[in-house]
Amino acid sequence: MNLKIVNDIKEKILSLNTSDLIKYILENHKNVALSSSLSAEDQVLTDMILKVNRNSRVFTLDTGRLHSETYKVMDETNLKYGVKLDIFFPKFDSVENLYKTQGVNGHFESIQNRKNCCNIRKIEPLKRALKGVDIWITGLRASQSITREDMPIIEWDENFKVIKLNPLINWSESQVWEYIKANKVPYNKLHDKGYPSIGCEPCTRAIKEGEDIRAGRWWWEDPEHKECGLHKK
Ligand code: ADX
Repeated sequence: MNLKIVNDIKEKILSLNTSDLIKYILENHKNVALSSSLSAEDQVLTDMILKVNRNSRVFTLDTGRLHSETYKVMDETNLKYGVKLDIFFPKFDSVENLYKTQGVNGHFESIQNRKNCCNIRKIEPLKRALKGVDIWITGLRASQSITREDMPIIEWDENFKVIKLNPLINWSESQVWEYIKANKVPYNKLHDKGYPSIGCEPCTRAIKEGEDIRAGRWWWEDPEHKECGLHKK
């Protein structure tokens, strides 16, 4: 881990608000990238980042099974900021093999099958996307789930061997939406239809009132399995 970078950012966290922190990092550090699922949180960060420099790296893992609403907001984002988001796609031969071995919707049949699918569509492409990246920015928030409650704002990610920065970790959901409205940031219209958390189309459903905000993700599984491996502890 590059302790010098971590300590420098830790010091700035104490005195800067989120957008100034982002600006400081982009202006003083190299090899910084945001991973964006086009969620409301990621759109806040995309707005902050591309307003500092529209050549900054914002990448999306297009799993190949995203909702059409997600592609729409991808397109709206490209148009608003005059960019082309960096898109990483799964390896076609791995997907072909997945279909051959467990079928097109085999992920519903077992946790192992579902994890095989997440690995091919998200984890392997993320590894490629993070090559050469020193600081990986995510849109994680602590109140999204118990698994995220004690995530720090900055940490060394041992799985992907990169410094991971979660600038919105202490933001509330309403802060996210206030920022989106105030800055006219494009957002995924599924958020208006009961989807607070959006992943792949077959593995995400709308939630009912009173349900946990991640209840719609891999909804058929027990809560302790509801991570794809991107954000392991
Ligand atoms: S997940 O692990 O359960 O899928 P979630 O959807 O809550 O994660 O998103 C948390 C953060 O993970 C996002 O803010 C983003 O940084 C990253 N992320 C999740 N999915 C993607 C994706 N398809 N492409 C890029 N980044 C993603």
